[in-house]
Order: sequence, then structure tokens, then C-alpha cells
Amino acid sequence: MKTKHPNVIAIDGTSASGKSTNAKLVAKALGYVYVDTGAMYRTLAWYCLSNRIDFHDAKAVATACRKWKTKLECVDAKVRLTVDGYYPEKEIRLVEVSVAVSMIAAVPKVREWMKKTQRDCIQFGNLVMEGRDIGTNVFPETDYKYYLDAHLEERTKRRVAEGVNENLAARDQRDSQRAAAPLMIALGAKVINNSNMTSEQTSGLLIKDIQARLKADGR
Ligand code: DC
Repeated sequence: MKTKHPNVIAIDGTSASGKSTNAKLVAKALGYVYVDTGAMYRTLAWYCLSNRIDFHDAKAVATACRKWKTKLECVDAKVRLTVDGYYPEKEIRLVEVSVAVSMIAAVPKVREWMKKTQRDCIQFGNLVMEGRDIGTNVFPETDYKYYLDAHLEERTKRRVAEGVNENLAARDQRDSQRAAAPLMIALGAKVINNSNMTSEQTSGLLIKDIQARLKADGR
């Protein structure tokens, strides 16, 4: 008999393309667990900054990632990564973390660790996982892959509306040009450019498409 594995919905895309908002709405509608993988990279960036580990030093960052004491938890259908029992929910959104994070995310040993940890999230059941390399690298075997994007101008406007002034183009460039698991459109991913769409429209489109595909696949 074929065993049924949990379903994984992979939502990748550029910074401020609406991944978090839409992935949360999709997870809620489907009753799946939501996983923000960017938050995990941010947690390591925050940990390095807090412990005065130079985030430009790939070797030092890799060592920190090998040694830090973390735990995966699922609270209210959302996965969180704690460090020494602490969940730095607010701290990981600070500008200095956003600046350091793409440097950290380019370290191959860090990506190896993240991939293993992110795959371990399957212990919590069906997942909606958002990031940059979920469809290409973390769960390449999933049939449910989406790639969100929007014009740079629109994405910058969205961040400013959230009170964040950030050079998104520079971060996207670093995320797309790194050697290890760069940001790219996964083979078979459905691309949605939501520049002119509300999050209700984007999530509505996603939910309809996922439900139809799950049904067609008998899942
Ligand atoms: O989605 P975010 O802005 O919170 O992501 C923070 C950074 O982490 C982003 O610059 C790229 C990196 N990241 C990654 O390389 N791979 C992922 N799966 C998720 C995030």
C-alpha cells in the first residue's frame, strides 16, 4: 500500500512580493501549517549580530550555525525556530537583520542546515512553506509550486507602507546571484505577478488553484 505523505505547498518569490501575507491566508484556508523560512535565516542573522559574530565571515557564520541550540515548535499552526528557548519574533524584523541576512543566506553550510531543518517541519503535517528555494531545493519533489513577483516600484511601495525603508533591489540581486540555491523559478512553478492585485485576489487565485490540483490528485 502506498503511504500518504503530508502535502507541501511551496511559495517562493522576490522580497515584498506578498509571500508572507498570501502564504498565511492559504495555510488558514486549507488548514495547513505555515512555515516562514526567511524567518529562520533572519534568526541566524540576529543570533550572529547579538553574539558579535562577523556576518561577512562565512566560516564564523557556519560555525555558529553548527553550534547554536535551536528547536522547532508549532504554535497556532505556525512553525517557529527558537534559540536557547527564545523566539526572537520582533528582533528578526530589525533593519540591521535585513541587511545581514542575505550574506548569511549565501553560506553553503547554512543552507545545508536550513534545508534539513525545513524538511523536518513535515513532522507537523501538511505545510504551506514560503521562501526563495522551497520549490527548487528544499522540497523539489512537491507538485505544488508557486512563484510570486511584482514590479520593484510596487514592492518598494509595500515595504514603505509597512514603515520599512529597504534597498530591495540589492537584496534581490544578492539572493539571485549567490552560488548556493539562488532565488529562481522552479521547474513547473506557477508564476503570479501580483503588481496590480490585492492580497485577497492573489490568495483567492492560489487557494482555487491548489484546491483544484489537490482534488485532481486525489489528495
Ligand atoms: O523572506 P525574507 O525577507 O524574510 O527573507 C530573508 C532573507 O533570507 C532573504 O534575503 C533571502 C533569505 N532566504 C533564503 O535565502 N532562502 C529562503 N528559503 C528564505 C529566505
